[in-house]
Amino acid sequence: MKKVITYGTYDLLHYGHIRLLERARALGDYLIVGVTADDFDKTRGKINGKQSLIERIEAVRETGLADEIIVEEYQGQKIDDIRRYGVDIFAIGSDWEGKFDYLKEYCQVVYLPRTEGVSSSELRSRNHVFRIGIVGESAMVDKFVAEVRYVNGAEVTGVCNGYEKTEYEELLNKSDAVYVVSNPKERAGLVKRALLKGKHVLCESPVAETESDCRYLMNLAEEKKLILMEAIKTAYATAYHRLCLLAKGGVIGKVVSVEATCTSMREQDTEYSRAEQRWGSLSDWGPIALLPVFQMLGTNYLDKRIVSWIESKTERYDAFTKIDFLYQNAVGSIKVGKGVKSEGILVITGTKGYIYVPAPWWKTDYFEVRYENPEQNKRYFYQLDGEGIRYEILEFLRSVETGVKGTYLDDEIALAISSVIEAYNSNEDVLTIENA
Ligand code: CTP
Repeated sequence: MKKVITYGTYDLLHYGHIRLLERARALGDYLIVGVTADDFDKTRGKINGKQSLIERIEAVRETGLADEIIVEEYQGQKIDDIRRYGVDIFAIGSDWEGKFDYLKEYCQVVYLPRTEGVSSSELRSRNHVFRIGIVGESAMVDKFVAEVRYVNGAEVTGVCNGYEKTEYEELLNKSDAVYVVSNPKERAGLVKRALLKGKHVLCESPVAETESDCRYLMNLAEEKKLILMEAIKTAYATAYHRLCLLAKGGVIGKVVSVEATCTSMREQDTEYSRAEQRWGSLSDWGPIALLPVFQMLGTNYLDKRIVSWIESKTERYDAFTKIDFLYQNAVGSIKVGKGVKSEGILVITGTKGYIYVPAPWWKTDYFEVRYENPEQNKRYFYQLDGEGIRYEILEFLRSVETGVKGTYLDDEIALAISSVIEAYNSNEDVLTIENA
């Protein structure tokens, strides 16, 4: 029996795919089809907002052309599969001409002419291009523009700083959604205007500087059936998300302490540095550092103590802030700085062991679960592309499409973040240390 194998994403299955499968099948007696898993597709720099792996597998099954369907999950798997299944022929479309010649060592490699005039990408964009406008002044603007390119079906309509009302209105008019990355003081107003115009919003955290404003905006979004999503990129990074699940699943026992540190020096002379320098360390780094504390321990802390080094009194610029949260059975602690430097690690302490995430933990692709007996230690690695921003955009698109916000970041956490910023701004319980 002659076995043939072929691989693909098969998003929005079309006749180009079917013709390829038919011809591949005709090369032998038994056809194995490898469907690429979402995670594997991501690492190839191609993110599809459309069909899930299960839907894509189902579509291939329905063609009736595959004798066996497998999932392609890792680089190098093709060699494994060819040997394991005793494959005689590897077939693939001519758009891959030459790319799989290395498999000739294991079986015959056939490139079949690609069907002209149809592709998943084209079908995806025909469905609808999701137009995102950007408002703000931050180095994140450029990063975001670059990252949108990796998400199929999304495009940037323009960028403005938000100070000119008419310019912002024009941007909103030509967009389906807006990404807000302006000065934290301006955000709530910009978000409100976008929602009132019927536009979805992806906004850097804190969305608002008071808990009540944050709640008001969330209610407004719900009333208008729009998505308002917080953009804390770390929340969407696979390694970070998986370590949260592991901790919740009890691998380190009961969590008794979460300590997160995020610091950076102030950028000098970049396009956005003047605007960004006005954001103190708590409004800039705070939401990221607070994320694991609130996700691990919840938002019902009993007490908090804020200590801050306020470098400039005129604009109340905090170069360093430390917050300790007291819970019934645990403690949380964050250290943030813009103008001081420290080790940017995340440590989650439990009754059986701890999770250690090396610096910079907020851009993590790696972490360790450590125990008293080092032989039990485990290391985890999950590829992180684009600092998590492209996954965040993808999640935003999915939320808009389904009308339901994803589960990466609960509203309760956004509210708790705004409430901490509010307490800080109103000087409530803030102890200050003298200028260094
Ligand atoms: N294929 C083909 N003719 C087309 C489209 C795809 O023969 N018009 C083949 C590809 O060469 C590949 C298989 O179908 O062997 C699966 O391709 P896949 O990447 O899933 O589909 P595309 O339509 O090429 O997807 P995209 O536009 O996202 O690249």
